[in-house]
Amino acid sequence: MKAYYEARAHEYDDWWLGRGGYVDRDRPGWDQARMELEAWIAGLEPARTLDVACGTGFMTRHLRGEVVGLDQSSSMIDVARRQAPNGTFVQGDALDLPFEDDAFDRLFTSYFYCHLEEDDRRRFLAEGRRVARELVVVASVPGEGDPLERWEERRLRDGSHWQVYKRVFVPDDLAKELGGRVLHANRYFVMVASP
Ligand SMILES: C[S@@+](CC[C@H](N)C(=O)[O-])C[C@H]1O[C@@H](n2cnc3c(N)ncnc32)[C@H](O)[C@@H]1O
Repeated sequence: MKAYYEARAHEYDDWWLGRGGYVDRDRPGWDQARMELEAWIAGLEPARTLDVACGTGFMTRHLRGEVVGLDQSSSMIDVARRQAPNGTFVQGDALDLPFEDDAFDRLFTSYFYCHLEEDDRRRFLAEGRRVARELVVVASVPGEGDPLERWEERRLRDGSHWQVYKRVFVPDDLAKELGGRVLHANRYFVMVASP
């Protein structure tokens, strides 16, 4: 996953914006649903927030309060520094967070939890709960007939091929898994807060 996202940094936002390789994706109402999600993120109470696996900062820029973004990829962080001037950014490992216990009020994470297999998921949740009392997790909901867990074949502009593990979530199931509640769900996205 690490090498793939480092290679994808400069084309990552194409997915959010339906550009480049995503122009032909059939995603009716996608922009509207993404903007709804952004509005819910912007509506979270301002807090000391750590955005784990912040990527290009596409969602980080909507968080309010004292915001720190962390990602393992230096290329992602370069983009995030430009795109999300509301935050400060740190290169680091989400499974071994370089912060003191209770350093944050909230840990926010978008499209990272869904890529973790069971052992890493457990490590990440333990780390998350160590550094922040609240977790907010954003992920995809299943489209019709979508398997809830799969290995996806991905291709980048340079022609390279990658295998990526991904889960999608029925909103109430994600809330139950995290011991929390659904803050927002629409046709494409779910956002859960825990506890
Ligand atoms: C699907 S992207 C999500 C980016 C962003 N949160 C968003 O929603 O647009 C996943 C991100 O996780 C980062 N990542 C993967 N493994 C990581 C790890 N162990 N520690 C920190 N970041 C990691 C990747 O570099 C990538 O930026």
